[in-house]
Amino acid sequence: LREKGLDEIDKAKNEEKLNDVRVKLTGRKSELTTILHSMKDIDPSDRREVGQRVNKLRDLFNAKLDDAKNEIVAALVEEQLAKEKIDVTLPGREMHLGTKHPINIILDDLEKYFIGMGYKVVQGPEIETDHYCFEMMNLPKDHPARDMQETFYIDSEDLLRSQTSGDQARVLEKHDFAKGPLKMVGPGKVYRRDDDDATHSHQFMQMEGLVVDKNITMGDLKGTLELMAKHIFGQDRETRLRPSYFPFTEPSVEMDVSCFNCNGKGCSICKYTGWIEVLGAGMVHPNVLENAGVDANVYGGFAFGVGLDRFAILKYGIDDIRDFYTNDVRFLEQFSKEE
Ligand code: PHE
Repeated sequence: LREKGLDEIDKAKNEEKLNDVRVKLTGRKSELTTILHSMKDIDPSDRREVGQRVNKLRDLFNAKLDDAKNEIVAALVEEQLAKEKIDVTLPGREMHLGTKHPINIILDDLEKYFIGMGYKVVQGPEIETDHYCFEMMNLPKDHPARDMQETFYIDSEDLLRSQTSGDQARVLEKHDFAKGPLKMVGPGKVYRRDDDDATHSHQFMQMEGLVVDKNITMGDLKGTLELMAKHIFGQDRETRLRPSYFPFTEPSVEMDVSCFNCNGKGCSICKYTGWIEVLGAGMVHPNVLENAGVDANVYGGFAFGVGLDRFAILKYGIDDIRDFYTNDVRFLEQFSKEE
């Protein structure tokens, strides 16, 4: 029994088999247990010796079984370690860090710039209502200026916003003027039914700006826009305002900056005018204030709308707006990792 048992322990090469052997050699149905149970049939003078030998053999089996188990576990650990071995002398793999998207570089820069001047940043919904996007902005349903923006309608009331100007109405409605002037910028995606080409995209980024308080003048608007343009495009950019039309501002203007390419002298890029248009703006139309419940006889302000794609195109000299949206890393990697 002893030889046979030790031999079986020897042959059990994994934990499962070893467990079977343990049950077989020392369990309730093992030969050893059977012998102990049949002590009463053994001659009383032999009982002591038989009992001792059985116990000794069981101790031996248990000890060998434990040894065998430890060996198996150690071998498993060894095998695992060998598999997971790391060669610390291998050269490191270079981590591929992403770069900030050029539009985000401009956006983050502008947000920081305006926060520094006490503006808050708001974000309106991309699926906007006709009510906020147009009606509140002095564009009733039959207004001809609705054609200025080819809007994607979802149904008669919901649309993909074609401008961030609805954010103006949303904040005007909520603002408590007893607590101070309203100064906000509202960046976000806008959509228009344009056929995509080098200069048009059906989706692009805008940033709305709005300041409302008592005694705000066109001079405040001019200074704000000029400083922003110089901040983004460099101190030596010249700016000018041209009269324009938007339903939600009166008077309305467009701002040009002196052409980057020819520095105002006139070239094919600026169509020989020396100027490049960068944004639309104006003094908030009294109807916009009144629609939002703000007394237009007491309060007034200015608003502007910046095309961030356009800013990025001009700042970085990009010739195809589609490059912003096709995610070609060779294009994206050209923009500094630090900014
Ligand atoms: N919403 C206008 C546009 O998309 C821009 C604008 C904003 C003009 C605010 C004036 C004031 O063209």
